[in-house]
Amino acid sequence: MNVSDAVAARRSIRDFLTDPVDDELLRDLLERAARAPSGGNVQPWRIYVLNGSRMTDFLDFLSTQPDIEPSEYDVYPANLWEPHRTARFELGEQMYGLLDIPREDKAGRLQQFARNARFFDAPAAFFITIDRRFNEPQWSDLGMFLQTFMLLAVEAGLDTCAQEYWSSRHGAVMEFVGAPEEEMLFCGMAIGYRNTEAPVNDLVAERLPLNTWATWV
Ligand SMILES: Cc1cc2nc3c(=O)[nH]c(=O)nc-3n(C[C@H](O)[C@H](O)[C@H](O)COP(=O)(O)O)c2cc1C
Repeated sequence: MNVSDAVAARRSIRDFLTDPVDDELLRDLLERAARAPSGGNVQPWRIYVLNGSRMTDFLDFLSTQPDIEPSEYDVYPANLWEPHRTARFELGEQMYGLLDIPREDKAGRLQQFARNARFFDAPAAFFITIDRRFNEPQWSDLGMFLQTFMLLAVEAGLDTCAQEYWSSRHGAVMEFVGAPEEEMLFCGMAIGYRNTEAPVNDLVAERLPLNTWATWV
């Protein structure tokens, strides 16, 4: 598999098989993902892995914890503007369309959203955190790490879904993983093997056309 194949094949998977993910494979992927570039090579990412019985322990712990709490950062700016607003709206429409959950079925949509809290049944996951003293450039470095990991996962036959959802459960997450106060949770990453029979996994999210976001000066 070359880079173009991995980029084209990667997509967010929201229904996983329970087939286990080998811990050694995870370690290897993480180690190689750390080849991602970062400004000044500061490597600001911190990773907390859940796999096997620790995933079960985490989900048990989570069920004893308060539901949604305010995120420590704004996941989206208030009053998202065009064309981003429509792009976000259409993602939801595409996804719930595949699942046959109409707009009026608020409970159905909420139920699907709540699957975030089980990593869409993925057997493995990690959380990525950053020291609060870092600034925007280092947050962007986390993105470099995440995408590098996701592409290497594709090459290894694994699927992923990055999840900002976890920012709304940060208290429980940070307590369970034992992260120090100075770290802030960015997101989670569900990891496993896709359920090829789940319609939600047929979702291929649209992209805005090049001329809406690239300018030749
Ligand atoms: C940092 C980050 C956080 C995300 N958080 C969530 C999430 O909480 N739940 C979810 O279902 N998808 C989440 N996604 C997936 C995006 O919706 C997805 O990347 C986007 O729709 C493009 O689709 P694709 O990944 O299939 O190409 C997240 C993606 C990124 C990069």
